Amino acid sequence: MSEKETVGVVGVGWVGLVTAVCFAELGHKVVALDIIEEKVSALRRGEVTIHEPELPKLLRKNAERLEFTTSMDEVLDGTRLLFCCVDTPPTYSGDADLSRVRAVVDRLPEDGHHALVMKSTVPSGTGAAIRRDKPDLPYVSCPEFLKEGSAIDDFMHPDRVVIGADEGSEWAADAVARLYAPLSDATVRTDVASAEMIKLASNAFLATKISFINEIANVCEEVGADVTEVARGMGMDDRIGPKFLNAGLGFGGSCFPKDTQALKMLAGNIGYHFQLLSSVIEVNELQKRRVTSKLSKHLGSLDGKRVALLGLAFKPDTDDMREASSLVLAARLQGEGAEVTAFDPVVAARAGELLPGVQMRPSAMEALDGADAAVLVTEWPEFADLDWSEAATRMKTPLMVDGRNFLDDDALVAAGFAYEGIGRPPRSANSG
Ligand code: UGA
Repeated sequence: MSEKETVGVVGVGWVGLVTAVCFAELGHKVVALDIIEEKVSALRRGEVTIHEPELPKLLRKNAERLEFTTSMDEVLDGTRLLFCCVDTPPTYSGDADLSRVRAVVDRLPEDGHHALVMKSTVPSGTGAAIRRDKPDLPYVSCPEFLKEGSAIDDFMHPDRVVIGADEGSEWAADAVARLYAPLSDATVRTDVASAEMIKLASNAFLATKISFINEIANVCEEVGADVTEVARGMGMDDRIGPKFLNAGLGFGGSCFPKDTQALKMLAGNIGYHFQLLSSVIEVNELQKRRVTSKLSKHLGSLDGKRVALLGLAFKPDTDDMREASSLVLAARLQGEGAEVTAFDPVVAARAGELLPGVQMRPSAMEALDGADAAVLVTEWPEFADLDWSEAATRMKTPLMVDGRNFLDDDALVAAGFAYEGIGRPPRSANSG
């Protein structure tokens, strides 16, 4: 039985709340701080403001061990390890905005008793800069690798745990290692700069994998190959692996777009041109825009045509709209003069303000009503089971652009649809 710690968490966004709830689930007491009072009050009532499977259940189950506060003194009282989980959004220049991290560091005493454990994604060199300012504040870099939508499972079953610490912070690194010991045997103990880079490089590599398969998809379209078959064949090579080879409308969310940009900027700021990442970012931008030409191929000018978007969130099982492909796509379609209707099972309520002019509908079928074409943007599982025969009769033209290669193309074609995937030969009743 491992020793129990009282853990401090600062910033209860996605990473912070999952960290707090999961440490509580492991039996530790957790004191978690956020500066937004309404968020703290809601959490005290057991209410979660983000859509993340399992999170509300675990929050309620472990309520006894979880304390939410707006007071740093309460966090410092009785804790040794403070997990910094505040966000680091991109600035106008593309660098990571570290002002929230700085605000946390400024509040911490250099008493030798408290240590800062960095979970926020920060550029390499952040740990060193913090220790230059506060040399007696023990500092551990412990990057998080969880994915939205499966955050609890990812936290509880990590592929690896990365713990970076430099001289003078060993006790804190050991304490963090003890906290994670029940979760994984695969621990990387390293220095702070390397730990910081492991996080950025991992996200940049996954983003590269996605942009790579998207470019392969675009070439597949030219040569008549099917990218899903290509990815299947590639993924069986152990060195490549099958994950993150799904071609589609590109990556979105709060991490890949921001972190690829931040790594590119980090390199640029020290005089290194990270050419590959520039391409990864550009391919991702263009990928979202290819949909309009697929639609035009069938419909001619999109002016006055009605296009239905199925799914708006940047991926299923989340209500996160940050850098969602739907934002670019809707604006592009409107730019071409199209009327856009949309349905998303979770984000519908507040999507209106993010997608001006888009007509939100209460169901997928109602979004499809009278549409000249549909685009599947987010692969919510419920879209797999739509009644395609009914959809075909409701739509003006049964045309589907499957932006995630997710739907059963045989079923759609049988129902009378013309089907376009990403990187796959187009299909229709005539083409088979
Ligand atoms: C990502 C990483 O996967 C996590 O390991 C990391 O901890 C997190 O960023 C972070 O830095 O906080 P997340 O952004 O939640 O997690 O979501 P992913 O599942 O990685 O998906 C990112 C985007 O890539 C989505 O838009 C998704 O649709 C797209 N994607 C993913 C593809 O287009 N193809 C794929 O094969 C996989």
